[in-house]
Amino acid sequence: MKREFPEGFWWGSATSSTQLEGAASEGGKGKNIWDHWYEVEPGRFFDGVGPEQTSGFYHRYREDIALMKEIGHNTYRFSISWSRLIPGGEGPVNEEAATFYGNVIDELLKQGIEPFVTLYHFDMPKEMQDQGGFENRRVAEAFARYAKVCFERYGDRVKKWFTFNEPIVPVEGGYLYDFHYPNIVDGKKASQVAYHTMIASALAISEYRKVGDGKIGIILNLTPSYPRSEHPADVKASNIADLFFNRSFLDPSVLGEYPQELIDLLVAHDHLPAVREGDRDLLKQNTIDLLGVNYYQPRRVKAKEHLPNPEAPFMPEWFFDHYEMPGRKMNPYRGWEIYEKGIYDIMMNLKENYGNIESFVSENGMGVQDEGRFEQDGMIHDDYRIDFIKGHLEWLHTAIEEGCQAKGYHLWTFMDNWSWMNAYKNRYGFYQVDLDTMERKPKKSAHWFKEVSTQNGF
Ligand code: BG6
Repeated sequence: MKREFPEGFWWGSATSSTQLEGAASEGGKGKNIWDHWYEVEPGRFFDGVGPEQTSGFYHRYREDIALMKEIGHNTYRFSISWSRLIPGGEGPVNEEAATFYGNVIDELLKQGIEPFVTLYHFDMPKEMQDQGGFENRRVAEAFARYAKVCFERYGDRVKKWFTFNEPIVPVEGGYLYDFHYPNIVDGKKASQVAYHTMIASALAISEYRKVGDGKIGIILNLTPSYPRSEHPADVKASNIADLFFNRSFLDPSVLGEYPQELIDLLVAHDHLPAVREGDRDLLKQNTIDLLGVNYYQPRRVKAKEHLPNPEAPFMPEWFFDHYEMPGRKMNPYRGWEIYEKGIYDIMMNLKENYGNIESFVSENGMGVQDEGRFEQDGMIHDDYRIDFIKGHLEWLHTAIEEGCQAKGYHLWTFMDNWSWMNAYKNRYGFYQVDLDTMERKPKKSAHWFKEVSTQNGF
């Protein structure tokens, strides 16, 4: 059966500045938390590889954009590095950086690829983190000023903006589970950082409303939560996981308000963040136009088997346990579950409960360790990735047939890139990158994706 996508469907991929650009100490860039963390704890990073060089896009962007064109991209999402554009996070613009991002945008447009720009992809400027990062409301305000600079400089050419990529990840990683800087475990701070990130997003959106004539949104990693059984205790546990991991950002972004159940839970455990008068209106008046959905894997949940230790730090896991569903399909090369229908469930939820907001799949992808072993005759034969993408596209197509407003599909990622702590352990790209020569080579999936995007279906 031919799966044909609606006319104008967005085919492309996504990346982020720290993971792709390299040149971390060139071009007047200031330090971000990743540059800093690598300096102080290099042992944290897989194979001891840090963010200095990554995939070298800073110097090779023209050739790389030609490679995007080569495989049929009509859209591409990348992020601007706050610490490159405004070293230190506040103060004068680094004109060399401003020219670089302007050139990237112009080159994309020249090749017929629409730029989608993310303003923040996990990369807090070091000086802003020294002031407490998003724990400190001043930093949220500084973020909005940086966003304004971006809108002023590039708003004539960029018509799709995203305030944050996966805003929950720095909260989880930095303040609960120890995989992002500042790697502390403190539920109260986590709650404050999550809240101020939403305030920062709303402030940036309000700036955009003054000058922008395109669309502005956010990118959320939505993990549909499935209970082990229909038993009320499992269902309740799953709903709480959904509140923490999805609705804590989805509701304020799309509906302009937090779920009452989440507020009640935080109040009951004395974890409500500090709020200011007027915040409710700020959030209500600055909802998004467009939602990017990153989907990798679902969350399987069961009722808590043992009461949490009241002495242990407050965590979402106080209220549920993870559940390894027997027989679930796994990515054997990364250890994450593969559940293609999750994409359909997310889209139907957006249709039914979030006003059928315009959305797209902004990341979906399959990480593979030691991917070189699949190389034959000079090409990585990543049939597993083709099957993975196809399986998700089929469900996405079904959701569209049932009336969801899903406008595109972007793979994570365009070419193999550096990842937070995992460095180059898991490879995700359409293009393989040789880290010694920096040569890019298309994988089999790149050729396949070219056909799909050119035919607008498969
Ligand atoms: C996504 C992030 O959640 O996961 C990316 O937006 C990240 O920045 C990707 O690289 C894959 O993560 P990992 O740890 O498998 O390399």
